[in-house]
Amino acid sequence: MSTEKPKTATNIQSIAEKNARLESMNAQALKGGGEDRIAKQHEKGKLTARERIDLLLDQGSFHEIGKFVTHRATDFGMDKQKVLGDGVVTGYGTIDGRLTYVFSQDFTVFGGSLSETFAEKIVKIMDMAMKNGAPVIGLNDSGGARIQEGVVSLGGYADIFYRNTLASGVVPQISAILGPCAGGAVYSPAITDFIFMVEQSSYMFVTGPNVVKTVTQEEVTSEELGGAQTHASKSGVTHFACANEAECIRQIKQLMSYIPSNCEEEPPRVAYEIGDETRSVLDELMPENPNQPYDMNEVIKGIIDDDSFLEVHKDFAENIICGFGRLAGRSIGIVANQPMSMAGVLDIQSSTKGGRFVRFCDSFNVPLLVLVDVPGFLPGTDQEWNGIITNGAKLLYAFSEATVPRISVITRKAYGGAYDVMNSKHIGADMNYAWPTAEIAVMGAQGASEIIFRKEIKNADDPHAMHQEKINEYTEKFANPYIAAARGFVDEVIKPSETRSKLIDAFAMLENKVDKLPRKKHGNIPL
Ligand code: HXC
Repeated sequence: MSTEKPKTATNIQSIAEKNARLESMNAQALKGGGEDRIAKQHEKGKLTARERIDLLLDQGSFHEIGKFVTHRATDFGMDKQKVLGDGVVTGYGTIDGRLTYVFSQDFTVFGGSLSETFAEKIVKIMDMAMKNGAPVIGLNDSGGARIQEGVVSLGGYADIFYRNTLASGVVPQISAILGPCAGGAVYSPAITDFIFMVEQSSYMFVTGPNVVKTVTQEEVTSEELGGAQTHASKSGVTHFACANEAECIRQIKQLMSYIPSNCEEEPPRVAYEIGDETRSVLDELMPENPNQPYDMNEVIKGIIDDDSFLEVHKDFAENIICGFGRLAGRSIGIVANQPMSMAGVLDIQSSTKGGRFVRFCDSFNVPLLVLVDVPGFLPGTDQEWNGIITNGAKLLYAFSEATVPRISVITRKAYGGAYDVMNSKHIGADMNYAWPTAEIAVMGAQGASEIIFRKEIKNADDPHAMHQEKINEYTEKFANPYIAAARGFVDEVIKPSETRSKLIDAFAMLENKVDKLPRKKHGNIPL
């Protein structure tokens, strides 16, 4: 008796044929824009969209979503050019075992340009990420809006921008720029929390060199206008400039190890056994001359767990250092004035850089350590005309609003408004320590004595000697931490070598801190 089933209208293909069709479609989707374009991508030193995902996620953890999506465009012969997946690989997987959503733009398919369906795929995983409380990592490599699609492509971008904004502060969003990123396409990465760029192969600009030349007559290369170094050091648009794609992906994974998956979670913690936490090296760091610079990186190194520092915005506004570290295995965000750069003064760029970092940490429950050595705000017409008032207020606002555990250590100078701004007790810091070398006053002794003792100095037989005497008097009275300690503005004056141990205990003490802001729709940070 034959076992062959009679063919019906719904069973034209055998199951084997159906499986073969699936396999063939899967194989086709993996090829993206085809072997030639993949070879071109490699020739440029770039990986393909799928190779990037393989590097990023734990081996074998990737699950693709929307592999067979194709575009719906018909103009300009597009109905005859359909590629499975439509130029973006989307899905989820894990990084160090933690759920992560990812989209990876495929430059081999229509130059990674964004169509209506391409945008829908990204929007789908962003919505899932928000519902399931996991980060979104976007690997960008795209020629921008798909020119053949017109306004639906612009709409697609806006759908993504809108999701970026809604997801901000809910789940971490990380953008890697691994090729061109032009036009309005730069605004999705701009809304995300961190941007990574790769030297010599990625660029970001609102209008490219050709348009710049037409409008302003400036001649500039893509690299100069919007390459990784430009955005890392001049504009501050990118937080990380990486030597190559593998390094970029390694750094993204490192960043992920400090931050939680969503705003309800605590950051990941590394096992640590407390021992002798005294660090005598810190007692040797401070120069005798209070105007001589020292490297605040050495202070950070002496405080946090070995090799645990990940600096953010390393080459931008070097007068303030921001980054993640670990203290007895606990993730912390560090904001520190850098006396080696412009004496650690606060200016427009450093205030903006610091403010944004503080807000990220506060959004995602990363406690803050603030190391203070600040002579004040930078004076001058350049700063005033460009809005040091508004921009300096960003840092002040960010600290004041932060409800995560906040601890300050004043190592040396804490002068003027900058004392208030740098996480002072008055704006809600939980614990404030000072080293014996701390100087906390309205301004430095030189300037202060010139103002308040002007008459005595002018009328003295020896004005120079009198000025020096008044400087000494002012220094003696104010260039120390004890007046602030007497008021309780400083909780404890500690030896530098005790700092690590004090901070470990204080952050543990603050572990269950609950602090709430007044009920409001949202604040109005001076943008
Ligand atoms: C459709 C595109 C495309 C696009 C590139 N391609 N950009 N297709 N829409 N936007 C296609 C090319 O036709 C080509 O197809 C393939 O992708 C590779 O492009 P090449 O030009 O060969 O590559 P390369 O020399 O490396 O140059 C890359 C590029 C260039 C610099 C990105 O392609 C370019 O300038 N593209 C246009 C960029 C642009 O102006 N986009 C619109 C920006 S405005 P074949 O079949 O030959 O392989 C915008 C508005 C967003 O994005 C607004 C949001 C609010």
